[in-house]
Amino acid sequence: MGTELNYNYKVVKQFTIATVVWGVIGMLVGVLIAAQLAWPALNFDTPWLSYGRLRPLHTNAVIFAFGICGLFATSYYVVQRTCQVRLFSDKLAAFTFWGWQLVLVCATISLPMGFTRGKEYAELEWPIALLITVVWVAYAVVFFGTLIKRKVKHIYVANWFFGAFILAVAILHIVNGASMPASFMKSYSAYSGVQDAMIQWWYGHNAVGFILTAGYLGMVYYFIPKQAERPVYSYRLSIVHFWALIFTYMWAGPHHLHYTALPDWTQSLAVVFSLILLAPSWGGMINGIMTLSGAWHKLRSDPILKFMIVSLSFYGMSTFEGPMMSIKTINSLSHYTDWTIAHVHSGALGWVGFITMGSIYYLIPRLSGKTAMWSTRLVDTHFWVATIGVVLYISSMWIAGVMQGLMWRAVNADGTLTYSFVEGVKATYPYYVIRVSGGFLYFSGMVMMAYNTFMTMRDGVAVDARIPALLPTHA
Ligand code: HEM
Ligand code: HEM
Repeated sequence: MGTELNYNYKVVKQFTIATVVWGVIGMLVGVLIAAQLAWPALNFDTPWLSYGRLRPLHTNAVIFAFGICGLFATSYYVVQRTCQVRLFSDKLAAFTFWGWQLVLVCATISLPMGFTRGKEYAELEWPIALLITVVWVAYAVVFFGTLIKRKVKHIYVANWFFGAFILAVAILHIVNGASMPASFMKSYSAYSGVQDAMIQWWYGHNAVGFILTAGYLGMVYYFIPKQAERPVYSYRLSIVHFWALIFTYMWAGPHHLHYTALPDWTQSLAVVFSLILLAPSWGGMINGIMTLSGAWHKLRSDPILKFMIVSLSFYGMSTFEGPMMSIKTINSLSHYTDWTIAHVHSGALGWVGFITMGSIYYLIPRLSGKTAMWSTRLVDTHFWVATIGVVLYISSMWIAGVMQGLMWRAVNADGTLTYSFVEGVKATYPYYVIRVSGGFLYFSGMVMMAYNTFMTMRDGVAVDARIPALLPTHA
């Protein structure tokens, strides 16, 4: 059989395995830093184990390793199946896999060593940032090249979301990455002062919008209808959802910089756009959830579908909470507190984590010539353990956050502060311990997934990835 008659599943499988492995690593580091906040002695007075160095390692490992490997795997799978052609270039696709792993290994070494640009989510120093650019261009060529040679006229909506994610990340990375190298592994931003902050949070917020949201919506629109065996509830709504979301996200960045030297009107503009963002976000969530119409009973027996549907509920929750937090008066309470951390992780664990896990569970058997995961019961256990973990994590951080905000602003009749800072830290301690337990549960679920993946793939046969001769609808 000529390769052109087959889909390229090899690279999809490689990225799938990488997602699981990096998930375990990134979450383990998350549990460690959560434990350090409760018991600081856990840094063992060792510089490379200190909180300040491991925190960016955690964010890079979960977003760029676990998160983006999942997006590579699913986008390569979906673009082939919905276009009914093999990837544009096998060699370039293999390059994106090995190139991206090299980026991740460099991050894993350089961040604990203390090399950083000091910009959140854009910490990696210039040689690694350049490598990212090269790999990303290759990714764009493979993805859009495949779209161009498609056999199906229509471009399925999931590909629009994946495409927007790829293009936006390229722009964000190049603009925010502009810097002047001072030596090998040290550079300075091309911008200064408030412009630097503005560019950084335009980047930061759109990293949320285009990596942590748009890419995963691509998964929603392919894997939920597939797993539920129902068509998308409203295809028209999915198109409106796409354009409204893409247009609105770009303007909301300054809500990360309320009450700063940034011109006031930019902050107000960000509030307005953040509030508008609620509409397309909820439109998308409802579209995903309603796709289950007529198939709700499947939730009783299908843990993969549970992951997917619960992920949409968390998406709805965090996209309601985000607009609220962007209102300046609310932000004056939430900013600097653990409320932000609760918001981040209801999005990250509940939304990003669950939709990735659901989609990867869908892929694994199909990439190994199996009909199901090695143990469906273990998938179900994973689901429950992770759900309890998320709830413990976010509810403890919500309570801690609101409490901190209120303690910091409490004043006595004579105008002096009611609480010293350290009293707030002391009051937070029990919540930090609860967060460690929630994080540990979530991490254990990830370990179960790794074991289940190993057992499913262990004696997997070569997969049949033959492209169908002609199918009238999306495959
Ligand atoms: C076992 C699971 C996890 C645990 C225990 C955990 C723990 C933590 C901790 C302790 C912090 C630092 C909070 C602080 O500085 O006060 C943090 C930050 C962060 N984590 Fe996680 N995390 C986990 C999973 C994830 C996942 C899966 C993602 C993304 C997909 C994620 C994304 C982030 C982000 C973006 C931040 C930075 C938040 C900010 O600066 O506001 N985490 N995490
Ligand atoms: C309508 C959608 C959303 C809006 C309007 C929104 C708004 C906000 C606001 C106002 C903050 C606090 C900024 C601050 O006080 O510093 C924030 C932080 C954050 N949000 Fe959202 N959010 C949304 C959805 C999401 C989703 C779905 C995720 C996915 C994980 C997410 C991830 C984050 C992260 C990582 C931060 C922390 C950034 C940092 O300081 O490091 N957000 N968001």
